[in-house]
Amino acid sequence: MKMKEIYNKILRFFFPYAGTVYSRIGGKKTIDAVVDRFYEVMSTDPLARECLDTHKKDLGEVSIKLKEYLYGWLGGPQVFVQKYGHPRMRMRHIMIPISEVEHRQWIYCMEKALSESEIDKNTQEEMLTAMNHLAGIIVNK
Ligand code: HEM
Repeated sequence: MKMKEIYNKILRFFFPYAGTVYSRIGGKKTIDAVVDRFYEVMSTDPLARECLDTHKKDLGEVSIKLKEYLYGWLGGPQVFVQKYGHPRMRMRHIMIPISEVEHRQWIYCMEKALSESEIDKNTQEEMLTAMNHLAGIIVNK
């Protein structure tokens, strides 16, 4: 094994998430705060009404699941996959009627939550673009 490979293995052992968006933005703590704020906006802002209405009254479970999903999706620990298997996000939303209206509102809440976070503007843009793409795939109505 070359020296560089050995060095990288050691680095990965001690810092498994080095260089990922997950670690750049501050890991679990930052993601938890963004998701908490995201559902707070969704449940209080009238502009997100239709999106809120697709959810169960108690947002506790989906809030934990979105946090776990985002850890892995941003390059951190794969908590969601370890617990529930392959993400299959479109399939997991297939029983929920989601149109462009709910899509826009979901992104609106996320944009608001991110803009109030400590995450730098470029990374916010990067995250929103990727989430917007995924949300577009989830649209099913
Ligand atoms: C396009 C707009 C979206 C709407 C309207 C929406 C709505 C929902 C609803 C209603 C649930 C079920 C939870 C409940 O009934 O309370 C759910 C689950 C979930 N959503 Fe979304 N969602 C959207 C986009 C996204 C995106 C972009 C992501 C990821 C970045 C995401 C991640 C999740 C996760 C991880 C779950 C839990 C899945 C499970 O139970 O296995 N959603 N979503």
